[in-house]
Amino acid sequence: MEGSSGEAPLLSIDLRRCLLKPVTRERTVRLSDMKEFFTDPDAVERTLSRRDPKIYEYREFTPKEEPGHLSVGITVVYPGKVGREYYMTRGHFHLKDAAEYYYCIAGRGILLLQSKSGEVAYVELRPRKIAYVPPGWGHRAVNVGRRRLAFLYVYPSDSGHDYGVIREKGFAKIVVEERGRPKLVDNPRYST
Ligand code: F6R
Ligand code: ZN
Repeated sequence: MEGSSGEAPLLSIDLRRCLLKPVTRERTVRLSDMKEFFTDPDAVERTLSRRDPKIYEYREFTPKEEPGHLSVGITVVYPGKVGREYYMTRGHFHLKDAAEYYYCIAGRGILLLQSKSGEVAYVELRPRKIAYVPPGWGHRAVNVGRRRLAFLYVYPSDSGHDYGVIREKGFAKIVVEERGRPKLVDNPRYST
């Protein structure tokens, strides 16, 4: 007897190449897809006038988008900066107040967290560490290393994703490079 049958899928994961099989959703996000999420518009335009870099990609498996199911996926955030700001995911709130786990596979990152009332927190992402996103907290992964940041995530399949507030205002804090090191600073574009 091998593999799986019917309603109980068995997934394969290639940790080195960050591949998951099967996938039900996959996406590559380039700078042009998330221009408004970086805080320095001049740096965005300068970069885009030369090239449109891949910022991150993810591959995900959702058994069913129904209550009770869990989705699993792998995100890879590439190394790099737009101006002083490190490459990162857009970040979102779950529409339903659902929690999420991030298991770091490779690289160095910061998981930025923000509650709906504006409280800010962060967690370091390092290989073999598991970060927890509490229900109701917005979250964004930032690659502060020189290599790819890769993490596996698990969350309830019917959570939904809300990018609106973050697209409009961003997070209260951003992660920038200062004297060669990552630093959490106030987001100049954030207003309460
Ligand atoms: C799912 C989740 C991650 C992110 C992914 C891309 O709830 O938190 O899988 O979706 O890392 O980030 P976003 O969705 O913010 O573009
Ligand atoms: Zn999420």
